[in-house]
Amino acid sequence: MSSKSILSGLKISILGAGNMGQALTRGLVEKSVYPQNISIYDIDSKKMAQLKKELSVKIAKTSRHCVSLADIVILAVKPQILPEAIAEVASSLGKETLILSIAAGVPISKIEEYLSVRGGAGVGGKKPMAIIRVMPNMPALVGAGMSAYSLGKHASAKDRKIAEAILAALGEYVQVPEKMIDLVTAISGSGPAYFFLLTEKMIEAAYEMGMKVDVAKKLVYQTAFGSGKILAQSDEDPETLIARVASKGGTTEAALKVFQRKGFGKIIQDAVKAAHRRSIELREGK
Ligand SMILES: NC(=O)c1ccc[n+]([C@@H]2O[C@H](COP(=O)([O-])OP(=O)(O)OC[C@H]3O[C@@H](n4cnc5c(N)ncnc54)[C@H](OP(=O)(O)O)[C@@H]3O)[C@@H](O)[C@H]2O)c1
Repeated sequence: MSSKSILSGLKISILGAGNMGQALTRGLVEKSVYPQNISIYDIDSKKMAQLKKELSVKIAKTSRHCVSLADIVILAVKPQILPEAIAEVASSLGKETLILSIAAGVPISKIEEYLSVRGGAGVGGKKPMAIIRVMPNMPALVGAGMSAYSLGKHASAKDRKIAEAILAALGEYVQVPEKMIDLVTAISGSGPAYFFLLTEKMIEAAYEMGMKVDVAKKLVYQTAFGSGKILAQSDEDPETLIARVASKGGTTEAALKVFQRKGFGKIIQDAVKAAHRRSIELREGK
């Protein structure tokens, strides 16, 4: 189903026009969401003006204005700003508005709490709001993101479809139970940095062995790109793909033996565990 079919006619408001807010706005317009159905608010008016000029989306004078007619509100501000950003708009949200939060480390229960502080939905007999929490990652900036999302208890099947159509504007998506989001953060959230580290170390090794940096960069970046493309398109698992590169007694096998002997697998496991632990600590305010 194209994103246009389910999103057409729906009014989408985005609070926060930073890296992710801009990626979402561009992605949605590219996916044929009518720009006049997208409304942006950011405290930085220059960012809004740039998006208006580039994409013809609407910009709002205040965050309250931005959300007041929205069917979907996307919270794309930094996590520490989220309580005040929600407090500002809570009482202006429509009864049926779907809330999509991409703020890292902020559980759905906290968003519900922030919404209720200023008499938003879910208090005083008002209908509880549908909330969907998303953990995107940095390649969303080039439309190749990996987002994991979790449904709040009041989100419907239709809300899920809407969220998926929005996340398609950033790249791929997958649904996970909310308790998995810390692990998602350690894998796909922080993951791009792990791949960048590997490329950096390969470039350094090539340089130290006499290769010009620009040549090494070209070799490594295209190898990373091509390998990623194969992983994305192939049905074969990494072990099979490795076997297709490594012939017996060959160069790849020589390198793989070093990775194995020096505990590469254990290093990756420990690194992922550290990121996971840190994600939990941050969520707990430590
Ligand atoms: N970037 C990533 O790779 C990534 C990955 C996963 C999740 N996320 C999540 O995505 C969210 C956005 O991240 P980002 O990298 O896009 O951050 P960002 O570039 O800092 O964008 C946030 C924007 O919100 C603006 N802002 C601050 N207070 C506001 C308010 N009260 N109302 C409206 N806008 C306000 C900021 O303006 P100022 O700059 O002037 O303060 C900034 O333009 C965060 O919650 C983050 O946890 C990001």
